[in-house]
Amino acid sequence: MGAGVEYHRRELAFALDATHPSHSLPQLPRAAKSILDIGCGMGQTLMALRLNPGIEAWGVDPDMEAIMAGREIVGSNIHLVLGAGEHLPFPDASFDLVFSRVAMPYMDIPIALAEISRVLRPSGKFWAALHPPGMLAKRIGEDFLRGQARDLAFCCFVALNSGSLRLFGRQFRIRGHCETVQTRAGFQKLLSASGLEPLPAGTRSNQLIVEAQKRQ
Ligand SMILES: C[S@@+](CC[C@H](N)C(=O)[O-])C[C@H]1O[C@@H](n2cnc3c(N)ncnc32)[C@H](O)[C@@H]1O
Repeated sequence: MGAGVEYHRRELAFALDATHPSHSLPQLPRAAKSILDIGCGMGQTLMALRLNPGIEAWGVDPDMEAIMAGREIVGSNIHLVLGAGEHLPFPDASFDLVFSRVAMPYMDIPIALAEISRVLRPSGKFWAALHPPGMLAKRIGEDFLRGQARDLAFCCFVALNSGSLRLFGRQFRIRGHCETVQTRAGFQKLLSASGLEPLPAGTRSNQLIVEAQKRQ
């Protein structure tokens, strides 16, 4: 799914504004030399991190338009490439930090987590901002009030898919969509199954924040 370049420009403004309710950024490990943002859009989170030039940063997104727009404005140590979280175009143990801001909800999460675990170095960190169930409940309420039957049907698919992921570790893809919402406990179970040790983390406004460390 392509969120649109205007969306990414707006998110860049939020990423640069620490007081905005949607602002959320991963913390850089002290000794990080190489980092990866999955579902990077036009690289807005990487730009907002104001990386020092010693860090090589990579961003992956399937939206060609966003990648092309981002390449016009990112610094020379930020490399934006076309790709998906389920098939990361990088060798094993490449990164000290892998993160994904509100993009995992659009991926096949068990497959993407296996890829993240593969490309992280031992003891490397993972950070993600996710969609909690409350977000879906709010959207369903709004759909009811506005009589938006089509979106309501899609929300029902997302709810069923999320339940299937939580109970059976499997999600379904219909017409290219495999969207889910996540609970902390459910996501931590998936992290553990992928060789990632969950770490304590909080919530940020309407986002569920999770952190983990690759096992040695
Ligand atoms: C809501 S936007 C978030 C963009 C950016 N991370 C941010 O925080 O502003 C979701 C992004 O996930 C990307 N995306 C969708 N499916 C993906 C997949 N399978 N693998 C990687 N990225 C994906 C979309 O193209 C989009 O750029």
